[in-house]
Amino acid sequence: MSSPFQNKVVLLGVTGSISAYKACELCSRIAQSGAKVYVAMTENSQKLIAPATFESLSGNPVITGMFEPYKLGPLSHISLTHEANLFIIAPATANMIAKSAHGIADDWLSTALLASNAPVLWAPAMNPQMYLNPATQKNIEILKERGHYFIGPETGKTACGEIGPGRMAEPIHIFEYADILINPLKDFKGKKILITSGPTQEPIDPVRYISNRSSGKMGKALAVEALRRGAQVTVISGPVSEPLPYLAETVLVRTANEMYEEVIKRFADYDIFIGSAAVADYSIKNPADEKHKQNGSMHHLELIPNPDIIKKLGEIKRPNQITVGFAAETHHLIEYAQEKLKRKNLDLIVANQVGGENCAFGSDYVYALMITPNSQDEKPEYIPKSELTHRIFNRITQILNKK
Ligand SMILES: Cc1cc2nc3c(=O)[nH]c(=O)nc-3n(C[C@H](O)[C@H](O)[C@H](O)COP(=O)(O)O)c2cc1C
Repeated sequence: MSSPFQNKVVLLGVTGSISAYKACELCSRIAQSGAKVYVAMTENSQKLIAPATFESLSGNPVITGMFEPYKLGPLSHISLTHEANLFIIAPATANMIAKSAHGIADDWLSTALLASNAPVLWAPAMNPQMYLNPATQKNIEILKERGHYFIGPETGKTACGEIGPGRMAEPIHIFEYADILINPLKDFKGKKILITSGPTQEPIDPVRYISNRSSGKMGKALAVEALRRGAQVTVISGPVSEPLPYLAETVLVRTANEMYEEVIKRFADYDIFIGSAAVADYSIKNPADEKHKQNGSMHHLELIPNPDIIKKLGEIKRPNQITVGFAAETHHLIEYAQEKLKRKNLDLIVANQVGGENCAFGSDYVYALMITPNSQDEKPEYIPKSELTHRIFNRITQILNKK
């Protein structure tokens, strides 16, 4: 699967907020993902950031005014909005939200919003009092009732120095939301999916632990694909540096035992479980309360086995629940994966080669194949994690159809 943005048209409206500079990163991310991006700037936003920046980042002329140079043709507010697959207003001023809520069309952007049938995603950014003002709140409510989407604002210290809700959502989160909205395939709508992600950490003492190289990228890619396809997603994640999926419910854990407890208490409510976390097989018996000193007390660490999450789920799952596991192996990839599939009563196992150069942990690519109780891919393929997750969900669809 190519990027969900490939061959799509995104209209990015930039309004007169101090956060306008953050829209540059968003514009760049979307353009690099393969979409055609057209940026429309209000007159006020051009006092805060120059159109030339967006022109370079998007690779397209920037719309700077209703009657000013007809760069995209005189009726661009009609033709472009009809062409657009997604309309994003980031940052969105209180003014533009108000104008759109009340059907005012007195500049290019507000006119295009009125003429558009595309989904609209707003990323408000403003002073906390402006945001909390009942007028703004009412305007947001009106737009939400019309089916518009909102992301943020975040709470924190705003540019004006006040603390409260008003900071524009991070560009990476807006991008993630856009990625989900732009994809029309919603074949997992109504399904609840539980995903484990990242490594676990088993404490030795208050400052040391045993862990592994899992980055959480696979779990994140799975969660984004599930959200893209309309599912409701919960991610139970060990400590990761990768930002967690913004639109999923997330539960943070540290140890394998914590992950086990969080999974077991939720599992009955979910249709599909995907165990992509690299869960430690062992923990330290009686981790020390104080830091070990250089006196030899740590020469011998006694290990005790951790509970096996996926095996337990294989024992308790209902016939209509699906469990998917991963086998990260350095050797005998297919043989070990086949054995694990059976032993853990899985519906699908994704076998991926780890340890070699460019392989799995921390990489955007995997060398993997899928095995079910009655089918097996011919051979492992070196593919992006986003492609693998797409194939995993296609395979789950086939399994669901047979259940
Ligand atoms: C430096 C500066 C920063 C501003 N930041 C914001 C902001 O973050 N959010 C907002 O709603 N208005 C902000 N304003 C006020 C808007 O620019 C003003 O309401 C304007 O009419 C918005 O026009 P537009 O929606 O057509 O871009 C700011 C004004 C200035 C001078």
